[in-house]
Amino acid sequence: MKATATSAATLLALAASATARTFTVYNACPFTIWPAVFTDLNVGSATPSIETGWSAAPYTSRSFNVPDNWKAGRIWARRNCNFSSNPGPNSCANGGCNGGLLCDPRTGTGVPPATLAEWTLSAGEGGNWDYYDVSLVDGYNLPAKITNNVGCAEASCPVDLGPNCPAALKGPFDSTGFPLGCKSDCLVDKNPGNSPSCCSGSHSTPQTCPPSGVPNYNYFKKNCPRSYVYAYDESSGTALFTCDARKKANYTLTFCPPP
Ligand SMILES: *[C@@H]1O[C@H](CO)[C@@H](O)[C@H](O)[C@H]1NC(C)=O
Ligand SMILES: *[C@@H]1O[C@H](CO)[C@@H](O)[C@H](O)[C@H]1NC(C)=O
Repeated sequence: MKATATSAATLLALAASATARTFTVYNACPFTIWPAVFTDLNVGSATPSIETGWSAAPYTSRSFNVPDNWKAGRIWARRNCNFSSNPGPNSCANGGCNGGLLCDPRTGTGVPPATLAEWTLSAGEGGNWDYYDVSLVDGYNLPAKITNNVGCAEASCPVDLGPNCPAALKGPFDSTGFPLGCKSDCLVDKNPGNSPSCCSGSHSTPQTCPPSGVPNYNYFKKNCPRSYVYAYDESSGTALFTCDARKKANYTLTFCPPP
């Protein structure tokens, strides 16, 4: 009886370690940020073992388990938050979500501009690939880098795109006038329903939405070549990254990565 119980416990422990990855979110910024996690529940039901939002003091990290089959997941961070009254999307200068500190599991995506780190694990052919990227499709609000411990490629936007952001895209600003973000061309487009920046309407295919139609594509891509800059940026070859899912990579997301 005792032997059976032990082997059952061992099997359970093995099953748990075989189906989870360890993710670490590290705040290397010299100021507090408020990371947030969102899972598109229309795509998959597996969710990470952590709250959907927390406060991260400078130079602190948190590690947590993420199911091996996490799909359409994203992590970003919010800047200059104050949740003391009327918590919700406007509680932060950018990246805020429905819910306040804890983002609503169904509707709690971040208010742009916000740099997004995105993952779909164990997908594609035979479920053998992890897909991940650092996306500026919703604009930029913090430098970020995704690394892993199995030798797969790094995805990143490691530089502060705020100060040199083209004037039409720059902001929001803090109380001293410092830019906390840089909006996407799509976000400021007056006609987002039919836009070469948003790849919408008559520009909704890769053929009709080339990077040359996005006015400030080069500002983002030259400064952050390993990020996903606009809807069809996969053609750049350095936007969406893959890692053999059988390697069971653990991932670290660093905000304000040191040079
Ligand atoms: C947060 O907002 C509250 C109410 O609006 C205010 O009293 C408080 O000083 C703010 N806290 C910070 C750190 O700015
Ligand atoms: C991922 O991290 C966990 C916890 O530290 C560890 O047990 C596991 O071996 C790591 N996976 C890889 C592929 O290194």
